Amino acid sequence: MSSDQPAQFELGDIDFRENAPVVAAELARLYERSGLRRPTADLTRIGRMILGADLSFTAWHGARLVGVARCLTDFCHSCYLADLAVDRQYQRRGIGRGLLERVQARLGEQVMILLLAAPEAADYYRHVGFEKVENGWRIPRRK
Ligand SMILES: CC(C)(COP(=O)(O)OP(=O)(O)OC[C@H]1O[C@@H](n2cnc3c(N)ncnc32)[C@H](O)[C@@H]1OP(=O)(O)O)[C@@H](O)C(=O)NCCC(=O)NCCS
Repeated sequence: MSSDQPAQFELGDIDFRENAPVVAAELARLYERSGLRRPTADLTRIGRMILGADLSFTAWHGARLVGVARCLTDFCHSCYLADLAVDRQYQRRGIGRGLLERVQARLGEQVMILLLAAPEAADYYRHVGFEKVENGWRIPRRK
């Protein structure tokens, strides 16, 4: 079986966990398997991305990490959703929505959730209830 064949599973088989410990190499592998571009060659930096997050939800199929939502937040006003990634063998089966629902439920009604969409996910966020903003500004990272 090709490693890109859809995995055999039901959404009920997926275990969603809040702030579960994740090893840097495991998260790097998930980023690579999702298609989300992150600095996966630098595991020290990936490890700091894990430690620096205020809130994360991860999705597990048995012992395998198959999805992540990683957030920087004050829990009372604002949240930057830094990463949302699902292993491509597990995509379009409700895991991304499951992660986002848990983030929203945890943060509650006082918190705005903001993100930058990757080009491939440009239509996704409208589909799961986000409004597009026209007034965003940024200073890009240089590396
Ligand atoms: C984008 C991503 C997180 C979505 O997660 P997912 O588990 O595949 O999505 P879900 O199954 O929860 O999808 C929910 C709905 O959105 C739709 N959808 C999924 N991916 C989509 C996309 N890229 N564009 C438009 N709609 C999409 C699904 O068909 C589903 O529709 P339905 O509710 O009508 O059945 C995942 O595909 C991914 O990791 N992509 C690569 C990395 C990436 O681009 N991340 C986002 C960075 S901003």
